[in-house]
Amino acid sequence: MKILVIGSGGREHALAWKIAQSPRVDKVVVAPGNGGICRRFDCADVGTDDREGLVSLAAGGLAAGGGFDLVVVGPEGPLVQGLADALAEKGIRVFGPSRGAAEIEGSKRFAKEFMARHGIPTAAFDAAASPEAARKIVRRLGLPIVVKADGLAAGKGVVVAGTLAEADAAIEAMMVEKVFGKAADCLVIEECLRGREASFMAVSDGSSILPLETAQDHKRVGDGDTGPNTGGMGAFSPAPGIGRALFEEVQETVLRKAVAGLRKEGRPFRGVLYAGLMLTADGPKVLEFNARFGDPETQPVLMRLESDLVDLMEAAVDGTLARAEAVWKRDPAVCVVAAAKGYPARPETGQTIEGLDEAARWPQTVVFHAGTRLAEGGRIVTNGGRVLGVTSLGKDLAEARQRAYGAMDKIRYDGMHYRRDIGLLSQGEAK
Ligand code: AMP
Ligand code: GLY
Repeated sequence: MKILVIGSGGREHALAWKIAQSPRVDKVVVAPGNGGICRRFDCADVGTDDREGLVSLAAGGLAAGGGFDLVVVGPEGPLVQGLADALAEKGIRVFGPSRGAAEIEGSKRFAKEFMARHGIPTAAFDAAASPEAARKIVRRLGLPIVVKADGLAAGKGVVVAGTLAEADAAIEAMMVEKVFGKAADCLVIEECLRGREASFMAVSDGSSILPLETAQDHKRVGDGDTGPNTGGMGAFSPAPGIGRALFEEVQETVLRKAVAGLRKEGRPFRGVLYAGLMLTADGPKVLEFNARFGDPETQPVLMRLESDLVDLMEAAVDGTLARAEAVWKRDPAVCVVAAAKGYPARPETGQTIEGLDEAARWPQTVVFHAGTRLAEGGRIVTNGGRVLGVTSLGKDLAEARQRAYGAMDKIRYDGMHYRRDIGLLSQGEAK
């Protein structure tokens, strides 16, 4: 098989890495890829928002080796724009939901109203189409309050406000100054939930689901969950404190319900459905749905997958997932993200990265690349905010952490920073 992976982040590096291990796969091409991906796999220089270019590449229109048996779409942008529909129209097999199904991520208002229609547990909310309406809802629901842009905002469109002034400032920035453009023409205002977060993912063929192992990510830039939110500074799998009963409860009340609801509404979901949850005193509640693999959760989760990922993806495309099975390593995995100087506000790029080969020799460790680029002389330089995701397995979290940080210690570039507490359970937390 020839498989095309679309995207350029750490998630896509992990997908290509795992897909290439399948004995059924002869070739993996990534578009556009990054420095680390393109050192190991063929890359096609077609951007994730170039729908025509990607369809023509997938169909065999470009010299880079077209005619793919399966296309795997990593990021949400092209899915929400309808890339899966465009590929399917040409008869190309694609792992990733249609535009209609991806709306569960593309519009938070749609997602919230969908959850209300289908009785999926989530925070109380209301939607606003004007700043006045938004300010009224804030005052009705009370503080603290969460203000969210309806559309895609690269993970930055959420403000948890502790005061009316903060909430009003968020409404002003999003709706009047339009910092996220049209993504904030509508706002979702919701009750602030308390608890620990966990990421659940499941592969779906539109009817059945196959649950993946859980993960927890670390969103704030600084140790001890301080500083601004980021795309994710690290993740580990499994998420702590999730026993069999809670795991089953989430599959039943969130993931299966969502897949059944989408099907009923004529939007069958084929791909990976991701539920970001808050584990509250009243039970698990959905913070958000994503229509794709999480980043960086995918890196530790795929390190733990024994089964052939391509089999699972094909079962999702063919509608035979009910018969599929996934086998997992018991060992936990930890992914520590190394970020660029200035991230998340203003990441600097172009710094030469050293020590990558030494880090890659660390036991049970893979250095997944995110914002990197191949430069002259085979050098790898930084090319984005999240630069690398050093991911290790261990017999327990402590060993996985020791390996990931041991490997990270070998890597150097100007302005490099990473959190020291990824996978560290705070005192009293369940193992
Ligand atoms: P989202 O993109 O909707 O997952 O939001 C990003 C982050 O904002 C989440 O991971 C939470 O940390 C926080 N957040 C979102 N919604 C809520 C909520 N209703 N209550 C508390 N925190 C929230
Ligand atoms: N790590 C959160 C996400 O992928 O959206």
